[in-house]
Amino acid sequence: MRFQTRAIHAGQQADAATGATIVPVYQTSTFTQDAIGQNKGFEYSRARNPTRVALEQCLASLENGRHALTYASGMAAVAATMQLVTAGQHVVVSDDLYGGTYRLFSQVLPAYGVQFSFVDALSLPTLQEAVLPNTRLVWIESPTNPMLRLTDIAGCAEIAHEAGAKLVVDNTFATPCLQQPLDMGADIVVHSMTKYIGGHSDLLGGAVVLSDDDVAAQLRFVSNATGGVLGPWDAWLCLRGLKTLAIRMREHCANAALVARFLRDRRETAAVHYPGFEDHPGHDLAARQMSDFGGMVTVELKGGETAARRLCESTHVFTLAESLGGVESLIGYPWLMSHGAFEPQFKSDKGITPATVRLSVGIEHADDLLDDLDQALARSA
Ligand SMILES: Cc1ncc(COP(=O)(O)O)c(C=O)c1O
Repeated sequence: MRFQTRAIHAGQQADAATGATIVPVYQTSTFTQDAIGQNKGFEYSRARNPTRVALEQCLASLENGRHALTYASGMAAVAATMQLVTAGQHVVVSDDLYGGTYRLFSQVLPAYGVQFSFVDALSLPTLQEAVLPNTRLVWIESPTNPMLRLTDIAGCAEIAHEAGAKLVVDNTFATPCLQQPLDMGADIVVHSMTKYIGGHSDLLGGAVVLSDDDVAAQLRFVSNATGGVLGPWDAWLCLRGLKTLAIRMREHCANAALVARFLRDRRETAAVHYPGFEDHPGHDLAARQMSDFGGMVTVELKGGETAARRLCESTHVFTLAESLGGVESLIGYPWLMSHGAFEPQFKSDKGITPATVRLSVGIEHADDLLDDLDQALARSA
């Protein structure tokens, strides 16, 4: 079956007990046992819950994987994946990544003896050089946050595999609707479902999708042992979000293309980062790896920090807020918001400056978005 059909039906058979067409919210911590050790496949919701199982089956199907595990947030999914690494092992990380992931990798996990190298994974030779005999994981995002650079997933997979390591791709920005990293050789896909998968800015959730049975069993064991799982209500909201992911992504992508072109023509902007532009350095790779160019646009203001701050504080339809991927358009200031955890020099090296503004383009009417940016840019100059 095609993606749209699987998004609505995979893992979502009618409820065996009642015939309910829509998977119910099994809001229960425990399950009654017929006799000691005899149950209907569910004992305790930290280990297994039917609403979560339905979501995980649907996600696995959409990413073309065999297994999915879901967690209380994207960062919980990232942290769970890192349980595959033990003290003395090494992880190579693309240095163009979400600030929260950087914070975990630079300020929390090194204390447990895990070694990290942050490198420019856009350059495959640089990535190759960073791999060590004890490298266990290679961690990348594509497109990257917030500069929307493209990482060669198949190329990174080849380098990781030659070294006996696994490639993890944070697929939050692209979603399984636009990009399926497992098909390109990645071993593990990570999502913040808080973003496009949930799609309505009303939940926190994370997911890990993979095909290797042994690694999945290991992650499942750790998930039960550590307990940061997704609750049934949030699992249900994600399942509902997935049903409209394809049509939402179509609108996000169409609106983002219009917003990017509008911004590029404005005298107030110094640069617009959007992989759909033919002169974007990652355009060809994006066209190969993704079925569309996504809903994010990042812009540099000619007027520097003052103009960027004014733009963020002058929009009415675009809401100034952390996060992305909801139906409503958001505007953010990466320097102090999503990427506040990075040192200033690190941000500057990645091209994030006090003049950078990130837009998560929603699915409102495009003309309202352009009108809003028009008036806000006029006030930012
Ligand atoms: C690419 C990416 N990965 C992971 C996360 C973390 O997700 P969460 O906020 O759901 O913990 C985010 C959050 O913005 C993100 O943008």
